Amino acid sequence: MPPTITSNEAHDFKAHYDRGHSSPLKENEEEDAYVHRITRYSDGTVKLRNSNIELMDQDILYHLALGSESHDLVEMFGDVKFVCMGGTPKRMENFAHFIMEDIGYKLPAGTQLQDISAYSYRYSMYKVGPVLCVSHGMGTPSVSILMHEMIKLMYHAKCKDPVFIRIGTCGGIGVEGGTVIITEDALDGQLRNSHEFTILGQTIHRPAKLDKKLARELKSLSSADDPYDTIIGKTLCTNDFYEGQGRLDGAFCEFSENDKMAYLEKLQEHGVVNIEMESTIFAALTHHAGIKAAVVCVALLNRLNGDQVNAPKEVMHEWQQRPQILVSRYIRKILAQHGQLKSLFGHQGSIKSPRRFKLVQQESQAHE
Ligand code: URA
Repeated sequence: MPPTITSNEAHDFKAHYDRGHSSPLKENEEEDAYVHRITRYSDGTVKLRNSNIELMDQDILYHLALGSESHDLVEMFGDVKFVCMGGTPKRMENFAHFIMEDIGYKLPAGTQLQDISAYSYRYSMYKVGPVLCVSHGMGTPSVSILMHEMIKLMYHAKCKDPVFIRIGTCGGIGVEGGTVIITEDALDGQLRNSHEFTILGQTIHRPAKLDKKLARELKSLSSADDPYDTIIGKTLCTNDFYEGQGRLDGAFCEFSENDKMAYLEKLQEHGVVNIEMESTIFAALTHHAGIKAAVVCVALLNRLNGDQVNAPKEVMHEWQQRPQILVSRYIRKILAQHGQLKSLFGHQGSIKSPRRFKLVQQESQAHE
């Protein structure tokens, strides 16, 4: 197995951060090149920044109900190019069916899409050829757990240069419900472009950087014929849906409507166009892993007009397909560029060790 990052490299990286840099542009390029160097092997496969993993007898991806020795992860996932994530299992199942149709992927006769992580009772995962569709739950802790295991899955499966895209919902600020919003920068509750972690009692920040080129490419795939707007802007990520997003309609509210409106206007002045609850952790962990990533959400309401999400169910359903359509256009484009659009064949997951496979299933079920 190829080596992961050494402690010297980790030290190097800290020194690199501590040194300071002459220009922000150069700093960004240098940092990106550095992250790429320590997170990729020369063939593009994912290199982990944790040398403990390769020393382990097996790595159980507990919340996915998968394991490095119970499952043949290379056989099952080695061809994955796109990891699409969204909040709910149902949305990701719908997306899996949608993308299957859109890229013309054919399952072998007599088979159907299955939730690969069903036995975890936590997250859902569907595989459609090179596209993995995974639910991440609500809020940053849930996304964080999934991201650790998805990044490790990319490593174990020897995936080459995977792209991660979050497909979500959000509250718009000054934009109408149904607008598609591509995140340019993810900001935390204090408008910092980073995610705060507490590790061994220490507070650290990791840059919540998304791939700007990918964001522009996604935007370029919106069409003048789309009966809705697709925009790029900054996204505020909060730890709560109610007080944390300045809503007046939670179980508690100790601020006035004027306070709320002043806050939303301040956000607007900063270029914030939407609020959700996952983008900073998603951006921080993909960036730390050197994975190209984007966030595409649809606004469920304009927060300048109210707090309640009350659009009719059918309307909401149609709105939620909009980010999926954009992401599907991107996937089709990339597959077509690589001549892969017409030659997709289904793969069934293979079990390397039935005994260990059973143990992983039982372990996950025991903690249901
Ligand atoms: N998701 C959020 O986090 N906030 C909203 O207002 C809507 C969806």
